[in-house]
Amino acid sequence: MERTIEMMEIEKNWDKFLSMPIETKISHFMREGRIYDCLFAQQFNREVLEYIFRIANTLRRITKTKEGMNFASSLLNHKRAMLYFIQPSTRTFLSFLNACHILGIKTSEIRDASISSEYKGESPEDTIRTFSSYVDLIIMRHPAQNFVEKSAWLMNRTKRPVPIINAGSSKDQHPTQALLDTYTLYRSFGGVIDGKTIAMVGDLKRGRTVRSLSFLMENYKNMKLVYIAPPEFKMERDVIDFLNKKNISYYETENFEEGIKEADAIYMTRIQDEHDKSGESKKIDYSKYSFTKKHLDIIKKDAIIMHPLPRREEISVEVDDDPRAMYWRQERNGMWARSALISYIFGVDAKIHIENKA
Ligand code: CP
Repeated sequence: MERTIEMMEIEKNWDKFLSMPIETKISHFMREGRIYDCLFAQQFNREVLEYIFRIANTLRRITKTKEGMNFASSLLNHKRAMLYFIQPSTRTFLSFLNACHILGIKTSEIRDASISSEYKGESPEDTIRTFSSYVDLIIMRHPAQNFVEKSAWLMNRTKRPVPIINAGSSKDQHPTQALLDTYTLYRSFGGVIDGKTIAMVGDLKRGRTVRSLSFLMENYKNMKLVYIAPPEFKMERDVIDFLNKKNISYYETENFEEGIKEADAIYMTRIQDEHDKSGESKKIDYSKYSFTKKHLDIIKKDAIIMHPLPRREEISVEVDDDPRAMYWRQERNGMWARSALISYIFGVDAKIHIENKA
């Protein structure tokens, strides 16, 4: 897309840039026709998604042998990455760390701002700039709304930009979780996601995973989304407006059992009480939005049960042994989807003989 003078002026001003619709900003975060900074689920189109899934399938297959692992770890062994995770994380952090190692990338990490120079008053913006002095990629999880996007915007205005991957930004988005969730759908349904009904359950208002997954569903035909949530935690208006604009079918209900019956995938989420202002989560009876053993009898025989994890009580441990429980495989899929994404961002996919299988 040709950049107008007006657009270039807007790009210089963060507040103006932030206020632009995401669709307008996507080109700003691309290089040579591909994703450079991975910030929003809306950056993925179907072609790119399915290409990344095939890279992921290939990487997971070839790395089963020492020879294949040596090949994979030679792809990016000239690169270094910073993992800057100042919000708690287990699987996103570990899957990115191991994805880097699979590709041979050397890693550094900061997981607590109080032991970085931010404690001495360095601004978050200067902190990001400092990382870019040492590494070729920044993977970050940050509690401040829009700060991951601002970091990428800042980087793109410096003489030594490095790509930024959003590994979870406040309540905004978690695009690589949506990528691995969709990869899980892709693998579970033999490559055919079109026409599926996806039920998303729980604290939809404050869950960044369900937001990103909803945006990603625009890439598939005849999807039906079922949002099952207490009235206090219904899906946010901007996502509903997006679905309406894109003609994606959805309905909202408080009735858990009714909502999961016809679903092909049931995506459970925990209550996001870290965002509480005054203990509002404690007032909700979340047990009504919990999947227990009895629900295995009412869902479809070939449905899958997903969860971005970590879980609390919203899926009982007894459900884990059912073949439809997909969440442990889902978290493992994250490492492969993230390896594939990083190889795609750095353009080493051309060196991999990518297979066609779903
Ligand atoms: N799904 C997810 O983001 O998990 P972590 O918080 O453990 O990274």
